Amino acid sequence: MQEVIRKKLKEKNAILLAHNYQPPEIQDVADMCGDSLELSIRAGKTNADIIVFCGVHFMAETASIVSPQKKVLLPKLDAGCPMAEMITPDALEQKKQSLPGVPVVTYVNSPASVKALSDICCTSANAVKVVNSLPDRDILMTPDKNLAQYTAQHTEKHIHYWDGYCPIHNNLTSEMLLASRKKYPDALVLAHPECQPDVLKLADEILSTSGMLKYVIQSTSKAFIIATESGLIHPLQKNHPDKRFYPASDSLTCPDMKKITLKDIVETLDKLSPEVRVPLDIQERARKSVERMIKIF
Ligand code: 13P
Ligand code: SF4
Repeated sequence: MQEVIRKKLKEKNAILLAHNYQPPEIQDVADMCGDSLELSIRAGKTNADIIVFCGVHFMAETASIVSPQKKVLLPKLDAGCPMAEMITPDALEQKKQSLPGVPVVTYVNSPASVKALSDICCTSANAVKVVNSLPDRDILMTPDKNLAQYTAQHTEKHIHYWDGYCPIHNNLTSEMLLASRKKYPDALVLAHPECQPDVLKLADEILSTSGMLKYVIQSTSKAFIIATESGLIHPLQKNHPDKRFYPASDSLTCPDMKKITLKDIVETLDKLSPEVRVPLDIQERARKSVERMIKIF
């Protein structure tokens, strides 16, 4: 099926982008795997006519926002992100009224309609840099409270935050991580900033998914406990057969990131649907927030 997909991609002048959490067989057939920041940059640069996005809905929306002239296909339209659904434009408008003049930094894990109401976007790879790039002292970060609290510890600014979270990362407790540390005492702990603050306190490094992939290349350590979604273990283990990678718990699998199958990709390329489109007025305003972020980095 991977061969069929590669052939169809070529015939249709399409590119397959996959998030680092996608199932192994999808990562292996993709033109590029990456974290949210890398994928949004690549989506904006491709010469392909079609982007097949293997990830979740907000990522395909972002690809469409930065490449509005391309057709962006998401093989399973119901692959969503529960954190992105924890904020709506109406609720953000209300919050903004209670914090007049305070700029809004929105994590890309959010609906396009919320990006459209924000000053700038950020990802887990650049949240601190984005916040520090703003002249204001007070900043509202949405929708991830854990990423916001992590950022607050690395900036002089006063961070107000939304009460959203990733259910997968947020479920990891410090007790679970301590149990893994006890089991693998020689392993370094790499944690994603979507984890809770007391989990992050136990980490050796706090990184985005691609940040973890890069970190392992230069590390002399032979074993790692990975405190992020389970899909990242595949590229880590594939790139470093001599090193060992242990998930921080058995419950770090995001069901939405596992919805797309190779068969869905074949069907999507045959039908050239389902397509993700962002309404024009939202698209234009959301693009400003995403491009402002991309321009800085
Ligand atoms: P990154 O790959 O940007 O670190 O994102 C993590 C995530 O949860 C995406 O859904
Ligand atoms: Fe959303 Fe969390 Fe799944 Fe990422 S891992 S898509 S943040 S629910």
